[in-house]
Amino acid sequence: MTRRVAVFISGGGSNMVKLLESMTGDHPARPCVVFSNNPDAAGLARARDLGVATEALPHQPFAGDRSAFEAAISAALAPHAPDIICLAGFMRKLTAGFTDAWAGKMLNIHPSLLPKYKGLKTHSRALEAGDAEHGCTVHEVTARLDDGPVLGQAVVPVLPDDTPDTLAARVLTQEHRLYPAVLRRFAAGDRTPVYLRS
Ligand code: GRF
Repeated sequence: MTRRVAVFISGGGSNMVKLLESMTGDHPARPCVVFSNNPDAAGLARARDLGVATEALPHQPFAGDRSAFEAAISAALAPHAPDIICLAGFMRKLTAGFTDAWAGKMLNIHPSLLPKYKGLKTHSRALEAGDAEHGCTVHEVTARLDDGPVLGQAVVPVLPDDTPDTLAARVLTQEHRLYPAVLRRFAAGDRTPVYLRS
């Protein structure tokens, strides 16, 4: 049975575009909706250009009531009937109420080799630590931020002249390979981690 995938974004959505473009042919999933907490997210227009429905729901009117925001997200998603949620640059923390409801069915991509560098500014933290390698991780989402079972990692070298921006760009290129590879496997019911190296 074809799995229906919702992708959550907050910004440009380059990972989202790669996910949508990957779900063709014999892929076991198809996109059903792209959701954003930011109505101005550039990725929403990119999704519509690719023929995928979009929903936008600003979080600000909920004034920090995360559960009420999540109830509204669920209501917005319901008509699209997703089986899987892919967080792709979605910059809101989700409560246990939402992550438990989607346990084993929600993925996230994070720009570090987890468990290193949960949270923000991962590229500058890797540089400051003097790491020789950096990368990205796709994992199942649990109530703990940037935690949960690892479904795939891609490793890149850190080069001597790297800045946070050059390193971020190298990692992003690998994010674009890793996330579609993991989703294809995951949607087929296979949780064996994918490991890539550039
Ligand atoms: C990616 O690096 C993602 O891992 C991070 O935010 C960035 C989103 O980029 N959490 P995009 O919106 O997919 O272009």
